[in-house]
Amino acid sequence: MTNGAKGYGEILNGALAINEGKIAWLGEMSAIPEHQTELTIDGQGKWLTPGLVDCHTHIVFGGNRANEFEMRLQGKSYEEIAKAGGGIISTVKATRQASEETLLAGALKRAKALNKQGVTTIEIKSGYGLETETELKMLKVATQVGEHLPIDVQRTFLGAHALPPEYKDDSQGYIDLVCQEMMPKVKEHALADAVDVFCEGIAFDAEQTEQVFESAKSHGIPVKVHAEQLSNIGGTELAAKYLALSSDHIEYLDEAGVKAMAEANMVAVVLPGAFYFLRETQKPPIELLRKYNVPMAVASDANPGSSPINSLQLMLNMACTLFRLTPAEALAGVTCFGAQALGLSSTKGKLAIGMDADIAMWDIQQPAELCYQFGVNPLHQLFKRGELTG
Ligand code: NIG
Ligand code: FE
Repeated sequence: MTNGAKGYGEILNGALAINEGKIAWLGEMSAIPEHQTELTIDGQGKWLTPGLVDCHTHIVFGGNRANEFEMRLQGKSYEEIAKAGGGIISTVKATRQASEETLLAGALKRAKALNKQGVTTIEIKSGYGLETETELKMLKVATQVGEHLPIDVQRTFLGAHALPPEYKDDSQGYIDLVCQEMMPKVKEHALADAVDVFCEGIAFDAEQTEQVFESAKSHGIPVKVHAEQLSNIGGTELAAKYLALSSDHIEYLDEAGVKAMAEANMVAVVLPGAFYFLRETQKPPIELLRKYNVPMAVASDANPGSSPINSLQLMLNMACTLFRLTPAEALAGVTCFGAQALGLSSTKGKLAIGMDADIAMWDIQQPAELCYQFGVNPLHQLFKRGELTG
């Protein structure tokens, strides 16, 4: 499969050549150029896809929130728990207390689980520190994940994820801290590839989001946004003004927002794990996204509160069953459009000449199997820049 955007772009009886970690040639076996006939791996009739891209995760964190899961089963809502000082803030407490080693051990476990299912590129956000030291600690740990595993890590600074208890009555003071202290340090130590904001009633409003975007812009860092997850307060349209890479969640996005995304060439990242786990009923506007040709990515949103699910394969299934994506759309969402949401379109997410040879080999008869079944891992082999890693 080369690119699932419109159909799978499959090459049947295909062959692929790798040179210095890049795809050097691909096409039908019968058309292999003479100088590239040295066959090293027999695909045995299996399917190749790009290594999967999980473009939205929060896998660096301390503790877990199983107790809140129980509270929700007793009738409390995600928002009620957040307002009572639980939710993101309870993970913040645990993350501040955790050492770098502890955080890394937890993140590696989760990243390995993703990798075993064919993921070769992930995004990891900060946002459970909400103070300079811990935000930087999280981004350092995210960097280390990529040094320990055959996974490329894109790091996103999400200082504006929630209001920390110290700033309970001073949200502007906290935004100032994010923009004036954290952002310059993140930039100075080259710790982030993007900046994200949780633009929502229980987090930051559009005006505060804009201040963070302005700061990111002045530091030359691209932006993305968590928006329209629980309500529509205009986060996506604002992000479009800043030519954001993506807007993520977007259950409550309206037609004007979808149009703005199309015009700004943004990716819509849908997160069926959070939708499922929070038992949401409002679905993202898939039909409108199709109508305006907005590319859709699918990601795990792996995090301890709203999506404690470290499986991109399960997300493929949920994107189809819950959001009615076609398997071709879902697969494009974890390959080429996942890569686009990270600004990595020119190296990741496609089988094409010149792209990184991050390749998954699957023991399947047809591509839809990757979305259809869950629980038997069809991954046969995994290559990172041409090297066999799993
Ligand atoms: O993507 N929406 C905000 N952030 C996370 C939730 C994080 C948490 O609850 O710990 C999300 O769903
Ligand atoms: Fe998230």
